[in-house]
Amino acid sequence: MNEILSNIKTRRSRREFIDKNIPEDEITRIIEAGRYAPSALNKQPWRFVIITNKETIRRLSEIVKTVSKKILRFLPLLQIIKSSLRDEKVVAAIKKSATAASDAVFFDAPLLILLLADGKEMYAAKDCAIASQNMMLYAHSIGISSCYIGRADLLDLSRKARKIIGMAPKMKIQAAVIFGYSPGITGAKIVERRTDNIIGWIK
Ligand SMILES: Cc1cc2nc3c(=O)[nH]c(=O)nc-3n(C[C@H](O)[C@H](O)[C@H](O)COP(=O)(O)O)c2cc1C
Repeated sequence: MNEILSNIKTRRSRREFIDKNIPEDEITRIIEAGRYAPSALNKQPWRFVIITNKETIRRLSEIVKTVSKKILRFLPLLQIIKSSLRDEKVVAAIKKSATAASDAVFFDAPLLILLLADGKEMYAAKDCAIASQNMMLYAHSIGISSCYIGRADLLDLSRKARKIIGMAPKMKIQAAVIFGYSPGITGAKIVERRTDNIIGWIK
């Protein structure tokens, strides 16, 4: 199989990490993979915040937990204004991060990379999502596992978190990815994906 397609197909989200830090030169290359992603109007609107301090990652995880609890308290009201909160799977995920005893947000990963951009940038979320995938695929190619953490978006709502991250008021968390070395082999086998009704082909 083509090397790139094989790398894409064998990447999996991993949420278990051994106690081993990622060398700084590898972190630099992970960022490099992100920086070379395409971006709308080539604006490259991202700012990468690299967090390798495990205590800080744990604090941010606790903040997501606190924000999740607040969301659950006001859920019926919030569901009226935000339709995504009516999705049962989304509510279950919020409940999990609100109640789990261990770090169910960043999974005690040794590296968290947050991608920030101006909230007014029209395509920033897409640009940062693509940059994240570039980083995850590069990491996978050198034996580093990763997981995209959508729930990290909730950090935007916390003044304390924004201070820890050093976010300017106009900035928004557009994407977040954890990285680390996982026990066992990542992607030893390819897991099938859905194929039903996902392609329209106009010839
Ligand atoms: C936008 C987005 C948000 C995600 N948010 C989370 C998350 O908050 N926590 C988590 O553990 N995994 C999260 N994931 C990872 C997905 O659960 C995972 O990609 C999916 O189950 C498919 O598995 P795979 O990545 O191993 O192929 C997210 C993935 C995406 C693309």
